Amino acid sequence: MDSRTVALIRTTFKAVAAEEGGPEKLARSFYAILFTDYPQVRDFFPASMDAQRDRLVKAIVYTLDRLEEPDKLLPFLAQLGRDHRKYGVQPAHYVAVATSLKSAVKVFAGTEMWTDEVDRAWDEGLTIIGDTMIGAAEKEMTPAVWHGTVVERRDVLRNLAVIRLQLDQPMRYAAGQYLSVQVPARPRMWRYLSPAVPANANGEIEFHVRGVLGGWVSPAIIARTAVGEQWQLSSPLGGLGIPRNTKRKMLMIGCGTGIAPLRAQLMAMAQRRTNPRTHLFVGGHHPCDLYDLETLSRLAVSNKWLTVTPVTETDENPWWYPGSGEPGAALPGLEQRVTGQIGKVVAGFGPWSDRDVQIVGAPSMVQTTKFRLMAAGTQTKNIRHDPLF
Ligand SMILES: Cc1cc2nc3c(=O)[nH]c(=O)nc-3n(C[C@H](O)[C@H](O)[C@H](O)COP(=O)(O)OP(=O)(O)OC[C@H]3O[C@@H](n4cnc5c(N)ncnc54)[C@H](O)[C@@H]3O)c2cc1C
Ligand code: HEM
Repeated sequence: MDSRTVALIRTTFKAVAAEEGGPEKLARSFYAILFTDYPQVRDFFPASMDAQRDRLVKAIVYTLDRLEEPDKLLPFLAQLGRDHRKYGVQPAHYVAVATSLKSAVKVFAGTEMWTDEVDRAWDEGLTIIGDTMIGAAEKEMTPAVWHGTVVERRDVLRNLAVIRLQLDQPMRYAAGQYLSVQVPARPRMWRYLSPAVPANANGEIEFHVRGVLGGWVSPAIIARTAVGEQWQLSSPLGGLGIPRNTKRKMLMIGCGTGIAPLRAQLMAMAQRRTNPRTHLFVGGHHPCDLYDLETLSRLAVSNKWLTVTPVTETDENPWWYPGSGEPGAALPGLEQRVTGQIGKVVAGFGPWSDRDVQIVGAPSMVQTTKFRLMAAGTQTKNIRHDPLF
């Protein structure tokens, strides 16, 4: 796709961004057009389409913004296409989505800006996206959906549970990837979770789930998940992971349940003969938020290439946390805990210019940490994180 076409798409997007509440209005207008003109697609979507249900629109915006980086974008779209098999999406639905999005953007841009050339640019961009997703879905031989039975649930914090499932058949994912799950309490509301263990031939899988205040799905997982419950899981996504035989040193930064895909990678690396030096910063608000230090301690003790530094924003535990001791304080193999904002702490250790960096956590934490590292001299091209929607 040439740079003029990309520029035309970007310019029309600027009209959306320039308007107060533009992205939310775009999402609302997109769904209104989609459901009016193509009522048959309504059933794919959750019953409640509140203001937060704009992940599809955000994703399309994210992809359109990366049309000039096909080597990164096309594999991402292929993964999304394989994953979208879980909805039962057919090629005709891509036309419906593309046409509705184009109509919604056109309203913002206004007829003056919307020339024939702009219209063709949008058609070209959306066709590339749709064709890549459809092509990958059609070629895929793995199941569209796996079924998993909850075999264990462990509450490690008041609002954080470790949940283990037995899949009906093994899933091949790379440690560091994520996948979407649907739980029985929230039909049609798929959410991404990151396996906390590497893939195994027995189909056992583990997730760490934090209940997000005001969220639809995560509080329901915390409140209702019980042994014997059936979940649905879809194809793996994401490009985090450490290539075999890499010589580049690693820097990993994970907060909260963001530790899950990082520990999965460290566990996979521990099976290899040689590994690059890796420094993991594991963060939380309170010391008790560092719920997985025992695993990390075991990994650090038996793998000399690994350094683990715990970081918390405060030294105090919340009032509801039982006991006054510091969890993990006496565990071997871990560095001394540091107090401070994680991005600032990590950046303070140096520019990390010789490292490949992975950042995992809530979107605001990822953005702030990335910003801090870039300000300290880390090159953007060496920093990786998952898409933030
Ligand atoms: C690549 C990826 C991997 C993920 N892996 C995990 C995982 O392993 N474990 C896990 O618990 N979660 C993980 N998440 C987050 C998860 O997918 C859900 O977004 C989260 O559980 C909230 O869903 P919800 O339905 O409860 O909230 P929603 O109803 O979707 O949202 C409610 C509100 O909460 C806000 N919100 C959403 N997520 C967060 C967050 N993380 N922190 C603060 N506010 C938030 C939303 O902006 C919204 O305002 C991952 C997300 C991504 C993108
Ligand atoms: C044009 C290319 C498309 C892109 C880039 C895209 C991307 C995404 C992404 C990233 C999500 C959020 C995560 C997820 O649940 O998978 C999503 C959600 C969804 N997509 Fe797509 N999608 C596209 C086309 C379609 C089409 C054609 C359909 C079928 C009608 C569809 C149906 C859905 C549904 C039902 C959701 C869940 C919405 C929600 O829970 O709020 N998507 N899409």
